[in-house]
Amino acid sequence: MKRNFIVMVCAMLMLLSANASAKTLVVYYSYTNNCREIVTTLTSQIDADVLEIQPAEKGLKYEANNYALGTQLLNAIKAAPNDASSYPAIDPVTTSLSDYGTIIIVTPLWWSQMAAPMQTYLFNYGGQMAGKNVGLIVSSASSGISSVVADCKRLVPDGNYFSENLWINHSSHSNRASLIQNWLTTVNYNTVTGISKIQTAQNTPIRIYDLNGRLLNQKPSKGIYIVNGKKRIAE
Ligand SMILES: Cc1cc2nc3c(=O)[nH]c(=O)nc-3n(C[C@H](O)[C@H](O)[C@H](O)COP(=O)(O)O)c2cc1C
Repeated sequence: MKRNFIVMVCAMLMLLSANASAKTLVVYYSYTNNCREIVTTLTSQIDADVLEIQPAEKGLKYEANNYALGTQLLNAIKAAPNDASSYPAIDPVTTSLSDYGTIIIVTPLWWSQMAAPMQTYLFNYGGQMAGKNVGLIVSSASSGISSVVADCKRLVPDGNYFSENLWINHSSHSNRASLIQNWLTTVNYNTVTGISKIQTAQNTPIRIYDLNGRLLNQKPSKGIYIVNGKKRIAE
């Protein structure tokens, strides 16, 4: 009896630690709402927490005067990318990255580069993403995203990047649900971020529990169950 109890407590502890490393954070910045819509679509397909980056200075018009302010911010970063004062201030962030094994960055493209407020966030926190899974989704009107990818790799040099990034431009924006779904499949999202990884790391089989903590032989045909700490619904 006592032994069973200890085994159950150990299993619960393993579930809790597995759950922490399997959690996903979606971090985004959006000026004209496209990235926000992308995040809403993305989080209807995966289980993730969301962090929105907000510039400290409100009401700025980045596109005014032929995008003068946006250009000025990016030029400052380009001139001194290692200097913290080159990056525009953002609101304080309280989300701790230690709670997450996977970070998905969703950002607009500005003049072919990563939008400046997202660069500020990654300048401050990209180092803490070392060894974590990192996915990148970029929204642009039409420009290709290779320089945004380069910005991301400069700011998050030790991320464990998904095999592909996702580019959603204005003409494909309305089709984002299927683009995101295909991307998650292509990058093997479930395997890279969750169950299989936990299996490899701990060398243990997948464990399925009911809501009372009872170990099940197989996934139930109906109802809520827990796989490696994550709630699932069988319908
Ligand atoms: C300052 C600024 C510069 C931009 N530069 C480009 C560009 O060079 N190429 C492009 O295709 N889109 C450019 N865009 C358009 C945005 O990338 C695009 O509208 C994106 O969907 C915006 O995402 P959001 O609505 O989440 O802010 C720019 C937008 C802004 C505000």
